[in-house]
Amino acid sequence: MSTPSTPGAGIVSGFPDGPGVPTDTIVYADNLAVLRRLPTGSVPLIYIDPPFNTGRTRTLTRLRTIRDPNGDRVGFQGRAYRTLRLGTQRYADVFDDYLAFLEPRLVEARRVLAPTGTLYVHLDYREVHYVKVLLDGIFGRECFLNEVIWAYDFGGRSTRRWPAKHDNILVYVASPRDYVFNVDAIDRIPYLAPGLVGPEKAARGKLPTDTWWSTIVPTNGRERTGYPTQKPLAILRRIIAASSRPGDLVLDFFAGSGTTGVAARELGRRFLLVDNNPEALRVMARRFAGMPGVRFVGFDPVAGVPAAPSDPAASAEAAGE
Ligand SMILES: C[S@@+](CC[C@H](N)C(=O)[O-])C[C@H]1O[C@@H](n2cnc3c(N)ncnc32)[C@H](O)[C@@H]1O
Repeated sequence: MSTPSTPGAGIVSGFPDGPGVPTDTIVYADNLAVLRRLPTGSVPLIYIDPPFNTGRTRTLTRLRTIRDPNGDRVGFQGRAYRTLRLGTQRYADVFDDYLAFLEPRLVEARRVLAPTGTLYVHLDYREVHYVKVLLDGIFGRECFLNEVIWAYDFGGRSTRRWPAKHDNILVYVASPRDYVFNVDAIDRIPYLAPGLVGPEKAARGKLPTDTWWSTIVPTNGRERTGYPTQKPLAILRRIIAASSRPGDLVLDFFAGSGTTGVAARELGRRFLLVDNNPEALRVMARRFAGMPGVRFVGFDPVAGVPAAPSDPAASAEAAGE
């Protein structure tokens, strides 16, 4: 029977050094520890969907006191003061932490990307501009390929501003001169006015642009795993079909419910998924149950608990000690 352990336990035994990377593997660990063990230039496609604001959250509330005869505090020479909360400063601090959390992971992602590889970073409108600047610094602006807008239409609508109904996916390539883009493998979409293009073209459909209209995971559909931030398979299928070749390794180091792995398997690619949340691992254990050749590292998929460390030194290293 397995016992709970620190996330990262067993990474070293699961990741032999040297050329080649493990295939169809799901790792329970902090992703930075795993990334640091992957060979340079070894991964043709990386997709990540980092959680917003995962960095150390500094709940620093800045205060300022101002003179106010009706204030609740008494200071020098018996003067009354009122305390103001400066909330904006707090937001900036939290965001700095988020970027500090992401940066070393994005630097490692760039290092492990194959010379013709592509990185997709799934963000929302609050983060995308900051992360774009960060990625431009890591990759160089010439390696920025696209900003894909995934537009959906679900849930409530604010009546006080334009309802935000899209995600942003930044796409970077290791080399702007030589990267994989399988235009013929991309699923096609219906013409808005099929009558105007003729029956042959209408039957074939047209290529999607950088704006993808696609529904969220239906709340009671078969695809639903119950993981709150689960992304639709349709989005991952399109990304993997366009930007990798059959047999390629696809890495998702913020794996959540494992959508990337499911789409990769469907399309004949190999996958490596990493997450540090036992609940994500439990969801993936259910989702991949019965699929042959899927290996869990640091987690017992049958018991649904972290696996006992097989190598204490490895656990310490993976935990960053
Ligand atoms: C937005 S969710 C990903 C959802 C996923 N795309 C899907 O379709 O289910 C982000 C995931 O990153 C994981 N995560 C956050 N910090 C991590 C870290 N340092 N190492 C590994 N995983 C991490 C969280 O546990 C969460 O499952």
